[in-house]
Amino acid sequence: MTSFRNISRRDFLKFCAGTASLLGLSEAAVPRVARALEGAAKKPPVIWLEGQDCAGCTISFINSSNPGTAELVLDTISVRYHETIMAAAGHLSEKALQDTIKEGGYVLVVEGSIPTVDPRFCQIAGRNFVDIVKEAAGNAGAVIAIGSCATYGGIPGDCPPPGTGMGVGEAMDKGLIPKKPLINVPTCPAHPERFVGTVVYYLLYKQPPPMDKIGRPLMFYDKLIHDNCERRGHFENGEFLSDWNSFEQRNWCMYLKGCKGPFTYADCPKRRWSDGLNWCIGCSSVCQGCSEPTFYTGMAPLYDKTQEIRGYRVETIGAVATGIVAVGLAGHFIGQAMTGRLGKGGPPEEGGDN
Ligand code: SF4
Ligand code: F3S
Repeated sequence: MTSFRNISRRDFLKFCAGTASLLGLSEAAVPRVARALEGAAKKPPVIWLEGQDCAGCTISFINSSNPGTAELVLDTISVRYHETIMAAAGHLSEKALQDTIKEGGYVLVVEGSIPTVDPRFCQIAGRNFVDIVKEAAGNAGAVIAIGSCATYGGIPGDCPPPGTGMGVGEAMDKGLIPKKPLINVPTCPAHPERFVGTVVYYLLYKQPPPMDKIGRPLMFYDKLIHDNCERRGHFENGEFLSDWNSFEQRNWCMYLKGCKGPFTYADCPKRRWSDGLNWCIGCSSVCQGCSEPTFYTGMAPLYDKTQEIRGYRVETIGAVATGIVAVGLAGHFIGQAMTGRLGKGGPPEEGGDN
């Protein structure tokens, strides 16, 4: 998080105080932070850049608890540059970035989409964001695109049409930034455990984890939300929520309310959010398909049913559903039948390896 070997002790301790405060530690912890950071300088370096985003993935990362941010930042990786959370500013932060780039072999994390409409978007120190990513990717060992915006464009990639930016993979394909091993860790925001797991895998094995065809680690994105959803039984029984105010329907399947779980690959039902407390469907929000390349526009309106499960059409809203199916709904029919993802990333094939 700093090039502290090259800055004054005073500046370094100021930086440690800022970091301790970020981590919710008291001033008494500053010497411990300093010791840990001095040790962390030997650990694999990370540069984290933010383009067109809401900083939600950063906040998700800061809130990580398994391991906690403190262990992560101080014990596991050395985040040398992160515009949002680093205490250093101005020339000090630029120096931290340049020193790390010169060193090479770091992991480059990109959060947010890359602005393509107006080069003034996301400028830092007078430099266009795309040029900063280009330079930082040049010496990186691997690039992690974190969150829906950095992976496939997300909301800035789509809105207002035709969008104002693109994901890292597309920017590589178009030659805007150098091609490097790229790992996509989508969802809005990214789940801290998926990010940490990806980083740790890379550090351990010095290569990206096994991925699907759109660059997502299979260890986190190989299953349909729908196949592990706690409301799946209601789907099978034709019990579809039609009235948000109905007590009886409160746990029924939300497919008719726009749930994109049948078209979305991620382990949210198992991993859950907020320390495993709950997840979208668990708190009666539809899955919005935020791990998919078609998010946002391809999934909108989020609370309308916009896609049909192939071979299965629900005609009746309410307790009784008229399913039109060629054959029964038994077994793994749904997982095999759903190839309905549209647009940028193309439809998934069976088994999540899409
Ligand atoms: Fe769950 Fe959505 Fe599938 Fe219904 S459609 S079972 S709410 S994932
Ligand atoms: Fe996103 Fe659906 Fe998970 S909206 S966070 S993929 S439940």
